[in-house]
Order: sequence, then structure tokens, then C-alpha cells
Amino acid sequence: MEYQLAVLPGDGIGPEVIAQGVKVLEAVGKKYGHTVHLTYDDVGGAAIDKHGVALRSDTLETARSSHAILFGAVGGPKWDDPSATVRPEQGLLALRKALGLFVNIRPVKVFPDLMDSSVVKPTVLEGVDMVVVRELTGGLYYGLPKGRRRTKRGWTGVDTMRYTQQEIERVLRVGFQLARARKGKLTSVDKANVLETSRLWRQLATDLAREHRDVELEHMLVDTCAMQLMQRPSRFDVIVAENTFGDILTDEAAVLAPSMGMLPSASLADIPTEGKLAMGLYEPIHGSAPDIVGRGVANPIAAVLTVALMMRYSLGLTKEAAAVEQAVDRVLAEGHRTPDIALEGQRVVSTTEMGDRVVGAL
Ligand code: IPM
Ligand code: MG
Repeated sequence: MEYQLAVLPGDGIGPEVIAQGVKVLEAVGKKYGHTVHLTYDDVGGAAIDKHGVALRSDTLETARSSHAILFGAVGGPKWDDPSATVRPEQGLLALRKALGLFVNIRPVKVFPDLMDSSVVKPTVLEGVDMVVVRELTGGLYYGLPKGRRRTKRGWTGVDTMRYTQQEIERVLRVGFQLARARKGKLTSVDKANVLETSRLWRQLATDLAREHRDVELEHMLVDTCAMQLMQRPSRFDVIVAENTFGDILTDEAAVLAPSMGMLPSASLADIPTEGKLAMGLYEPIHGSAPDIVGRGVANPIAAVLTVALMMRYSLGLTKEAAAVEQAVDRVLAEGHRTPDIALEGQRVVSTTEMGDRVVGAL
């Protein structure tokens, strides 16, 4: 098969980890006889520096005409001035919105070989295997009005949490369908004791549950969910949450994995269904990690697993995706660790060596 991919490495450690993901992708292509055409472009701070904007319309067109987009990370201290009108994050947010990528799927899996590396006790980590379904194109990220203005009494800032029925239902449906294909349990997260958008969310989830009687639906307040993720994470199967809640909860859930450097994500414009492929944007859940840029210590596993997700959801390469995931398991079982997942005394490998090891294990 032949595929067109847009590669947007972005800022910080984005280019370092994406290089490893691409290396694995090319190795898979060679082994299984697929041709991948890669079109690289700038996004985020890298695009601001070169073109003055975080996302050029040409880049968006390249993305649109691709089977999938492989995305690194955006942002960094260089562009962090709160008074700046262009920000790296705008590039990612514009891509998500323009491509209609309303759902972000973040599988959270605990790697048996890494149980001792988490700050959470192994007994608590036993059996953790969940998927967080995050709404991605609504809520506080996009709601209007939005802005800052000076008033007589000082500054006022405003962000708006706004959701329509259609926006909530389509993401809830993804949650129900994923739960149906897994252990049949869906936790719908909200803050219904305070927020109107959450009360609407809860009401629509309850209504949709009637169409999905094989799925057990529970409602959970977001603060409770944050606590349960640490206290009893194995109780979760599929979690569905609005944009900001999902953003925060997945960073927390990454601690179970045990590092941000381990978790991939898929942003899609449709419910992923077997046999029906959707264009998507694939990115590790971690950020640009400016503190470790260029030192060869970034963990590329999230980027490599992101490539596997892309193969599964957008390219229809199921067995290839499984092969990549198994290769990662093997490399971890052999004891190779980047610093973020290494215990005292364990041999530490660099970003590049980790990528080479995965290729070797394929
Ligand atoms: C993520 C990131 C982004 C988000 C940032 C970089 C805008 O934290 O993908 O989780 O908040 O969505
Ligand atoms: Mg985040």
C-alpha cells in the first residue's frame, strides 16, 4: 500500500521524538511492503519564527490531503510572553478545529515491566487498562467570548465554556462505542454540581445510555475522578470528558504509565470503526519539554506508539500496529530505559538508541 503523511514535528523535543517514530514507520514500511510519502512542515513556534504564524494555510492544505498527520509538540519559553498575539499552541488548536477532529483518544496502559518505575504502588497499578476519550474542539478552548481587557478596576479575563447538544452527543457516542468493544463500562466525567454545561452533558449521557444498554454508564465528578485515578485506577474502562477536564486528567493518568513519555493519542473526526478509515492527527500526549531539549534524553516511546495508533485508525494496518506495540514491549522487557522511566542502577539509553532498539525488535 501507499500512504501520504504530513509530518509536523513542531518545537522542543517534538523533532527528536518524531524522528524515532518516523524511523519505526519506515522500518515497518520496508518489512511489510508499504510506501510512505512524508511531507514535512513547520508548526507552532517553529512556524512563528519562519513565517510569523503558528500554522500556514499551505500546511493545513497538506494536512487535509494526507491520510494522517504525525504531530510532535508545540510551545516553549521563547514564545511564552503572555502579551504575544501569536502563540505556538494556536497552530495545534487551529488544526484540530479546521480538520473537525472532535475526539481525542488516549489509551492509558500500565506496562508490566515499568510498574516499579511509577510513583504509584504496583498493587494499585495492577490491572490498569483504560481509554480516555477527550472532547477536542469545544469547551473553554474555543468558546466565545474570550479575551482580556483593562477596566477601571484593573484587568478582566474571560474564557467561555460552551457546548451544544450535537458536540456533546458525538463525543459521548465515541465513548459508548469504545466501551462496548472493551469491558462495557463508561465513566462520564463532569462537574454537574456546579456547571450548566456539565448538567447538559450528564443529561445527554443518561439519554444516550438508553441506546447503549449493553454499556454500564456511571457519572463521576471531575474532582472525584482525579482522586480515583490515583486511588483505584483499575476501576476504569472508558472515561469520557470535555476538553479541559480531559486534558488535565490525561496528564495525571500518564503518571500511572509511568511517564508522559509513554502515552500516544489519536485525534479523529469520526468514530473509529473497524474497516472504515478516518483521517486523523496523531501526537504523543506530552509537550515540548523545553527543559530537556537537545540532550538526547527524551523518551520516544510515546511517539512510536503514536505511529502504531496511526497505523491502526487511519492506515488500516492492524497487524503492523500490533507488531510495533509488541516491539516496544520487548525492548522494555529487555530492560532498556530512557531516564524518565529508569530506576536507580538501570542502564539508560538515549532517545536515538531507544528508537533503534524498537526497530531492532520489529
Ligand atoms: C495536549 C496539550 C495541548 C492541549 C496544548 C499544547 C495546547 O496539552 O494535547 O494535551 O491543551 O490540548
Ligand atoms: Mg495536555
